[in-house]
Amino acid sequence: MSTPNSLNGQRVIIIGGGSGIGLAAAKQASGLGAEIVLAGRSPERLEQAKAAIPGAVSTAALDFRNEDEVKAFFEETGEFDHLVVTAGELKHGSGKLADLDTASSREQFESRFWGPYLAVRYGSPLIRQSGSITLTSGFFGDKAIPGASVPSAVHGAIENLGRVLAFELAPLRVNVISPGYADTPLHDGLPPEQKQAWFDQTAPTLPVRRIASADDIAGGILFLIGNGYTTGLTLTVDGGARLV
Ligand SMILES: NC(=O)c1ccc[n+]([C@@H]2O[C@H](COP(=O)([O-])OP(=O)(O)OC[C@H]3O[C@@H](n4cnc5c(N)ncnc54)[C@H](OP(=O)(O)O)[C@@H]3O)[C@@H](O)[C@H]2O)c1
Repeated sequence: MSTPNSLNGQRVIIIGGGSGIGLAAAKQASGLGAEIVLAGRSPERLEQAKAAIPGAVSTAALDFRNEDEVKAFFEETGEFDHLVVTAGELKHGSGKLADLDTASSREQFESRFWGPYLAVRYGSPLIRQSGSITLTSGFFGDKAIPGASVPSAVHGAIENLGRVLAFELAPLRVNVISPGYADTPLHDGLPPEQKQAWFDQTAPTLPVRRIASADDIAGGILFLIGNGYTTGLTLTVDGGARLV
């Protein structure tokens, strides 16, 4: 997969860049010369992330579910080139629809659909026309897994949002990255031994026989940023998980 040779002189804003896939994308983009803005809720997490990236990095504390905060954030940022939204969390319930707590299901849409929606709503007018937006879904959007109706619906919604925005915001490019299972802090809600057991059990079932690193997925994001002929695309980087 080709990635851009240089992002010199370009500004990349990564909402969710304080850890995991967003942080890996920030490191890769910084390595190509980009100036990085990391946004997320925890200032401490953002400062740690900033310290791990050589090059020009600034941070902003932001809860992207809050419209006023998102609006104020983009009023401050000025023009930039690429918006990457990886923010999301995994604390919500899953299970058969009849057993789900409705508030928890709604909250999944708040953070994983309405957050990205707000980021695009207020961020896109500031993106230079040669730039791009990359949103994040997940391979559940491609697969009917009993018990995962709400995450599947969220991912499908994001992927369709991306497709339509590729027309509405053209010539700005809009794409979606769809990760498979990746070893990131997203799964730190599980006790370490339980997380490891789940990874050990899952990896051999995948065609690539391993769980993704954050860098594996970030490579897909850098491809979408750098390839000027991609738009309206959902790029699944899942080691074949959707086939299993
Ligand atoms: N890892 C996987 O296996 C996997 C699989 C499929 C899809 N995905 C998706 O990929 C995306 C990135 O996940 P990841 O693995 O990189 O997880 P991660 O390491 O937990 O990163 C998510 C980041 O989002 C930030 N965040 C969460 N809620 C936020 C909010 N309301 N406002 C602003 N920032 C917020 C978090 O920081 P704060 O808590 O400080 O805000 C965190 O830095 C997520 O959308 C996830 O659903 C991941």
